[in-house]
Amino acid sequence: MKSNAIHAVVRCRKMSHVMRTYLKHIPGYRRLIRLLKVGESSRDFLLKAMPTNSICAEIGVDRGDFSRRILDIVRPMKLHLIDPWKYEQEQIYKNTLYGGALGGSQAHMDKRYQKVVKRFRLEIENGQVVVHRGYSYEVCNDFEDQYFDWIYIDGNHLYEFVKKDLELYYNKVKENGFMMGDDYVTGDWWQGGVKKAVDEFVARGGVTVIQIENKQFTLKRDSSTK
Ligand SMILES: C[S@@+](CC[C@H](N)C(=O)[O-])C[C@H]1O[C@@H](n2cnc3c(N)ncnc32)[C@H](O)[C@@H]1O
Repeated sequence: MKSNAIHAVVRCRKMSHVMRTYLKHIPGYRRLIRLLKVGESSRDFLLKAMPTNSICAEIGVDRGDFSRRILDIVRPMKLHLIDPWKYEQEQIYKNTLYGGALGGSQAHMDKRYQKVVKRFRLEIENGQVVVHRGYSYEVCNDFEDQYFDWIYIDGNHLYEFVKKDLELYYNKVKENGFMMGDDYVTGDWWQGGVKKAVDEFVARGGVTVIQIENKQFTLKRDSSTK
């Protein structure tokens, strides 16, 4: 089982969250993943295109693995981390990281939040990282219009939530800034909600599709003079 799991790591360019759950029983698995340079690398191309010293947000943080990539690759001036770390009990969330067995319980989610705060303690102290514990649609009011250079949307993937994230955060992103996000696919537990919301949002105008690759979407907010 142990060696099978290690081979699975090597083969996978991006590990699914479910696979992570199994692998984490192997002692030292995080270090192994880092050493093998697998895991998050399939999304690094997004970050390499983002400007250093930018102001950005990640909606949906979980354990902060992608947040770490953002800090290491982009080296932003300010990174806002937005997540309620709330255990969701409804059936629809039973296969998510924040429901069912993977979420565990509210006590687990509280611990996850505390670990993120600990993980980014230095960056929080020096003001580079700000953690907002709350739903993206609530936290949105914390920001001025046209504040962000770019945002990454990876919170609740159900259609109505992604739709709301796109609509609410559109005004918070600067003209010519970027709205990116994960899991632009059909199916899965969110029943293609990300893809549907993004496609509708693009069709209504005001953004240009820059790229769709590896399940990642990148939209650019058009300038008002376009
Ligand atoms: C897929 S995980 C995020 C993974 C993370 N971006 C990464 O790549 O490592 C989804 C996260 O979204 C959070 N979440 C769920 N609903 C949310 C909402 N309405 N606003 C913000 N975050 C939400 C969950 O608590 C969970 O931590």
